[in-house]
Amino acid sequence: MSAPKGRGERRDQPQPTRTSTKDRLRYDLTGIERQYDTLLEELPGVRVRFALKACPVDEVLRTLVAAGAGFDAAGPAEIEQALRAGAHPDHIHYGNTIKSDQDIAKAHRLGVRTFATDSVEDVTAVAAHAPRARVFCRLATSGDGALWGLNRKFGCAPDDAVRVLSTARAAGLVPAGLSVHVGSQQMTGEAWQQALDTLAGTLTALAGRGIVPDHVNLGGGLPALGYLDRRGNPLDPPLDKIFTVLREGMERLNALAAAPLDFVLEPGRHLVADHGVIHAHVVRLTERTQPDGGRTRWLYLSAGKYNGLYEMDQVTHPLVFPGRETQEHVPAIVAGPTCDSDDAYGGGRYPVRVPRSVRSGDPVRILAAGAYASSYMTQGFNGIRPLPTECTREEGHH
Ligand SMILES: Cc1ncc(COP(=O)(O)O)c(C=O)c1O
Repeated sequence: MSAPKGRGERRDQPQPTRTSTKDRLRYDLTGIERQYDTLLEELPGVRVRFALKACPVDEVLRTLVAAGAGFDAAGPAEIEQALRAGAHPDHIHYGNTIKSDQDIAKAHRLGVRTFATDSVEDVTAVAAHAPRARVFCRLATSGDGALWGLNRKFGCAPDDAVRVLSTARAAGLVPAGLSVHVGSQQMTGEAWQQALDTLAGTLTALAGRGIVPDHVNLGGGLPALGYLDRRGNPLDPPLDKIFTVLREGMERLNALAAAPLDFVLEPGRHLVADHGVIHAHVVRLTERTQPDGGRTRWLYLSAGKYNGLYEMDQVTHPLVFPGRETQEHVPAIVAGPTCDSDDAYGGGRYPVRVPRSVRSGDPVRILAAGAYASSYMTQGFNGIRPLPTECTREEGHH
């Protein structure tokens, strides 16, 4: 029950006030450009459709458009943002299999002509509200090997994909492609291998029905390199192996396809995670006896799960304490500033090493924080404002 209000106390909602103006989420646009170039060097000829949800920051989107990327959009609002960033509608697809009639119609009005689908119900709605559009059918994957599986809610079995794309053709749509998403921060080459096997089998089954897709969308899931696991150890994803599996898989699919295939990728975190840093500050380092009788240090930071580090229970982020790097370090559990106990690195169970001398107000840099940080932020939980974003560029780079 809330306490009775005192006389003269204001009854309107408190405005968020607590984040220091110095806290911010800073993107390195030059780093993002380099990451994009490296991806295309590894997978030549692939069309990149950046999963905008991972970083809906206008300057980042404009940078990617200038580099040649298009966008995977999750709905009309993201399509509008992609258009504002300068993307051509032909380079934006509606990549969400979950969409209302209104969403489909709006996307179509905005000029988008390529839609993801995974059910007869959805593809029938696309035919009604985006006549003659191109559709690609998302195949289910297990999600094994990924930190976020993205399975069950999306994607269909190969038999269903044949049914969905046959329905599309009969309804006047173009059955243009197949897609997969092997799960976000996918840590194994085997997951792509399995997905490529499923794609190969489905392309063959489609050919039996006279359906010849013009592209395969290999989805997102490419890992970022800078995360630590819950215990603070580097995750170390086998990126080279993943690229080899993808290159060989694309060759194999092209060899069995009845017509040459274009390949699309929808990377999100791989392009931006390692190029975003949260500039935050230390709230306090404390030491208390825990219920099990042990003494534990807790380091509370001004940024946590609800203002930029939503993924902090799966991955942790390297921390830099400027000026304190060489000082004595002690184990402490790192946590955000809110009243929620899940606002803690690694579920609040695994200490990492931090400088013993840190003081309230000290700056801290939280690395590898560029993916899903600006989009997964609450609007004032505990009175904490969303972090403002800021973009920088290396001098001489445009
Ligand atoms: C359809 C789709 N494509 C791409 C992505 C991007 O995934 P990632 O950030 O793992 O690359 C997502 C993420 O949820 C997605 O839903």
